[in-house]
Amino acid sequence: MSEAKLFQDSNYLQKNQYRDSSNLDARAALHRKFSTAVTDWQPWVFDLLKLESGMRVLECGCGPGWLWRQNVDRIPVGCHITLTDLSAGMVAEAEAALGSSTHRFDFQTANIQALDFPDDTFDLVVANHMLYHVPDLPQALSEIQRVLKANGRFIAATNGNNHMKELPLLVPEEIRQATTSFRVRGEGEALAFRLENGRSLLEPYFNQVDLHLYDDGLYITEVEPLLAYAFSMIKPDEDVPETAVAQLRQAWQAKIEAEGGIHISKDSGVFVASN
Ligand SMILES: C[S@@+](CC[C@H](N)C(=O)[O-])C[C@H]1O[C@@H](n2cnc3c(N)ncnc32)[C@H](O)[C@@H]1O
Repeated sequence: MSEAKLFQDSNYLQKNQYRDSSNLDARAALHRKFSTAVTDWQPWVFDLLKLESGMRVLECGCGPGWLWRQNVDRIPVGCHITLTDLSAGMVAEAEAALGSSTHRFDFQTANIQALDFPDDTFDLVVANHMLYHVPDLPQALSEIQRVLKANGRFIAATNGNNHMKELPLLVPEEIRQATTSFRVRGEGEALAFRLENGRSLLEPYFNQVDLHLYDDGLYITEVEPLLAYAFSMIKPDEDVPETAVAQLRQAWQAKIEAEGGIHISKDSGVFVASN
């Protein structure tokens, strides 16, 4: 299966890649530790929500609930926040972390393509780095439009084509040839929903679409977090030989020692859409 298809395969997403937050956490850990941004990602996204007291909010693809966990002290009183994800494991982690919060949270395992909420329910819907996993985007966007109130807003975060573009090139050629997980990543198909095409995908559903770009990059000075990142995306049927792991570790360690660190570009942003 191609990487793009695997990335939208609900069986793979639910049972493998996002069964729990371990893969996501390996990637987030690299960003947390080596990001050059002034403001961390989740607080930066939170600012764009422009939450006000009493708002009814839905997050689709909430993962382990980091957007709320990392901004819990900034949530205005009286908001009612519903967290949903395709993966029951992710919803369980979000609920374990936020279920006893003084804020009003609900949790539900749900596919964004078939939301079990009445029309005109939410003031705000959030899809943070998840629309690129959705096989039927028009269906998902229709669902979002249906559950949003007439004056509601939709917040969609994603990456662009240049996001981490150096990573596959850091993998020695012979490993890229032998291991499909490394060969295709970043070199093959683009994300289905990305910075470059997000506006044209959202405009049929919203009158106003604004893109906010996140100014960031990575300067990596330790090899193990980079290895953990790379291996969080290995395809389930692929066994990377120990010799290849050792070769990668050695190559990246040598680069860090020679150059002081490894620079990797980031290309992320948030669309804010409304009517
Ligand atoms: C890259 S993670 C982002 C998690 C979280 N929003 C964050 O930014 O930390 C993508 C999440 O979307 C979920 N997801 C994928 N396809 C989905 C779908 N069709 N409906 C709802 N959630 C989905 C995955 O299970 C995963 O938790």
